[in-house]
Amino acid sequence: MATYPLRISRRRQECDDTASLWLDVPKDLVSAFSYRPGQFLTVETGTGEARVARQYSLSSTPGKDSGLRITVKRIDGGRVSGWLVDRVQEGDLVDVQAPRGRFFKEMEEPHHAILLAAGSGIAPILPIGRWLLESGRGHRVTFVYGNRTPDAVILGEELATVVAAHESSCTAEHVMSRADDGWTGPRGRVDRAYIVRRFAEWQAMSTLPLVVYMCGPEAFMDAAESAFLTLGVPEAQIHRESFDMVLEDDLGEPGLVVTGMAEPGEEGDTARIVAVVGGEEYEADWQEGEDILSALLRTGADVPFSCQEGTCSSCISKLTEGRVEVRPGVLQTLRQSDLDEGLVLACLSHPKTRSIRIDFDEI
Ligand SMILES: Cc1cc2nc3c(=O)[nH]c(=O)nc-3n(C[C@H](O)[C@H](O)[C@H](O)COP(=O)(O)OP(=O)(O)OC[C@H]3O[C@@H](n4cnc5c(N)ncnc54)[C@H](O)[C@@H]3O)c2cc1C
Ligand code: FES
Repeated sequence: MATYPLRISRRRQECDDTASLWLDVPKDLVSAFSYRPGQFLTVETGTGEARVARQYSLSSTPGKDSGLRITVKRIDGGRVSGWLVDRVQEGDLVDVQAPRGRFFKEMEEPHHAILLAAGSGIAPILPIGRWLLESGRGHRVTFVYGNRTPDAVILGEELATVVAAHESSCTAEHVMSRADDGWTGPRGRVDRAYIVRRFAEWQAMSTLPLVVYMCGPEAFMDAAESAFLTLGVPEAQIHRESFDMVLEDDLGEPGLVVTGMAEPGEEGDTARIVAVVGGEEYEADWQEGEDILSALLRTGADVPFSCQEGTCSSCISKLTEGRVEVRPGVLQTLRQSDLDEGLVLACLSHPKTRSIRIDFDEI
């Protein structure tokens, strides 16, 4: 997918391993870089074979902050995170793709959003909370933010400002797993036991239906999701964003079938793919054994992608005609309810009918 060089207008060290970078959007790219809370940018660096792309959630809030901001935690030995945190300076140009992702689901009806974050997982969570609180729709927000020590808290001042500005409808619980004696707040991990312990109080805060958003390590999210499901929160109201880049082995498991809105048409071993990207149409002949993304890339289509293994969600797209089969590992990134709406990951899908139409814009 096309990348655009955006200038770093500001850099702030959040804690020893994490920095926030603000990117300026030139006037002619404002529309391409409009975004929803919870979306991410794909940053590219390097040349030729050594070119790599990584996703970073926007930690800025659309319509509230000027420019775009990402908040990056350095991973030991990490190529792109190390470069962004330690080397990129104000004034530098960084190649980025337009925002993608579908973590946040806009809610018309007022809800009580429990927003769980661990470490750098606060990056997409903070703007979701701020967006809900400033939507004027009467949402309530409870941030639950886990860190080892108070020094490791990222975007803490901004979080405190949001809570103070909405004190009648927002609270934040900071939970520390390794704080010293000076810490007077909750201790331990944001785990199953913590959620079960706090749940009745969260429910008592309002009569609004609960919705949960979470971002952090997979084990943290698995435990939290299982706790909320046990406590009766419907799966469709639990949303998670994963930063981890590993798709668990799903080979040998049966694929999931997704059907577009229109009549699916005839099944076959060959297929014509029409893809809509950036308002343009691209066509590709599918060859047996390949996924939809690979078929489109073979023709030079400018489709968004990065990991090509179902973890980054860059290639999320909507099947509008025909039928496809998706690898079951897709459920590590999307929900069954997303598939029911026709959403798929092109890199994990292949056509089942002789013609399919897939829209990368309508997500
Ligand atoms: C949708 C999405 C949004 C993301 N948003 C953010 C964000 O807002 N802030 C942020 O800091 N990161 C975010 N990430 C993670 C980011 O994209 C990179 O995966 C991360 O920065 C590591 O890339 P790297 O090139 O530095 O490491 P690599 O060179 O790819 O990996 C170096 C080593 O670290 C391990 N590793 C890779 N990724 C992780 C990880 N996430 N946690 C632990 N170990 C890892 C690898 O297995 C490898 O051993 C997001 C990822 C996704 C998919
Ligand atoms: S390219 Fe990353 S999920 Fe498909």
